Amino acid sequence: MIFPETHIPITEIPLQNRDVRLFVKREDFIDPEISGNKYWKLFYNINSYLARKTANPRLITFGGAFSNHIAAVSALGYREDIPTVGIIRGDELANKWQHNPTLSFAAAKGMMFCFVSREQYRRKEELGEIMLQQYPEALIIPEGGTNELAVDGIRHMLNEQTKSFDYLCCAVGTGGTLAGISKFAEAEQNILGFKIVNDDSLQQSVLALSGRNNFSLINEINGRYGKITDEDIRFINVFAEKYGIQLDPVYTGKMMQGIFALIEADFFPKESKILSFHTGGLQGISGANKMLAAKGRKLINNTVSSQTNYL
Ligand SMILES: Cc1ncc(COP(=O)(O)O)c(C=O)c1O
Repeated sequence: MIFPETHIPITEIPLQNRDVRLFVKREDFIDPEISGNKYWKLFYNINSYLARKTANPRLITFGGAFSNHIAAVSALGYREDIPTVGIIRGDELANKWQHNPTLSFAAAKGMMFCFVSREQYRRKEELGEIMLQQYPEALIIPEGGTNELAVDGIRHMLNEQTKSFDYLCCAVGTGGTLAGISKFAEAEQNILGFKIVNDDSLQQSVLALSGRNNFSLINEINGRYGKITDEDIRFINVFAEKYGIQLDPVYTGKMMQGIFALIEADFFPKESKILSFHTGGLQGISGANKMLAAKGRKLINNTVSSQTNYL
């Protein structure tokens, strides 16, 4: 993987009558297909694997039907000419994955799927072992790409510009991104991770990867883990209209709502400078909208799909 030269802007969200300042670092601009934190979590994993020059390289990873990580790994494999296998949660998808935009994208990038039940998916380490028997030279990338090399890659989301912020905020799934920000932040910076999954082990696993306890985990704003609520949709649509920034419903939309709620509750000391990381995930909007449409619900205004080459 090349070291991207893309300029990643930091833009201010103009808040009215607030004594704190809020900014967004647009990691979603880094690459149209391997977007946001996914690029950096994969960067050292893939480059160290490629350096081994195996005769039969293959990338094997795990994810759900809307996974940004699955989309990113498939695109990466296509670009680097490495076959990819996705172990996908939900065996019911085996006959209908073609209707899922994320999986259709991954298949178009050449990813092979192995659909497993939720029960089997919980034992994914075993599935990885079985896969390795079939493909001994393959690289098994953990769910969400999170491991020590991923954490090291996240250091590139931080730079001279990010040093001046009092708070650094990101969405938390498997915790690799938060761990990387925590590990490489300045000593005086506070790190907030907005949980999008209800996983009590995150505190421990992030601490183990980061080695620092400079971070706090914030619970999902209204406790609706893994659900796209009407309020999420409203917030994302208003945010895009007002500030011209598209958020996704699973990660960045929840994070931004969480930040707004903390601002509202006067959590941040006066004059605080808050930096949020836009970690991408916009490929998931079309799948989310398909699901919402099937239920007759309001849709997310997708301002990005016409500008990018996702689907
Ligand atoms: C858009 C987006 N934001 C945030 C995250 C959370 O990252 P992590 O799994 O490292 O906690 C992910 C997952 O990779 C993601 O796709």
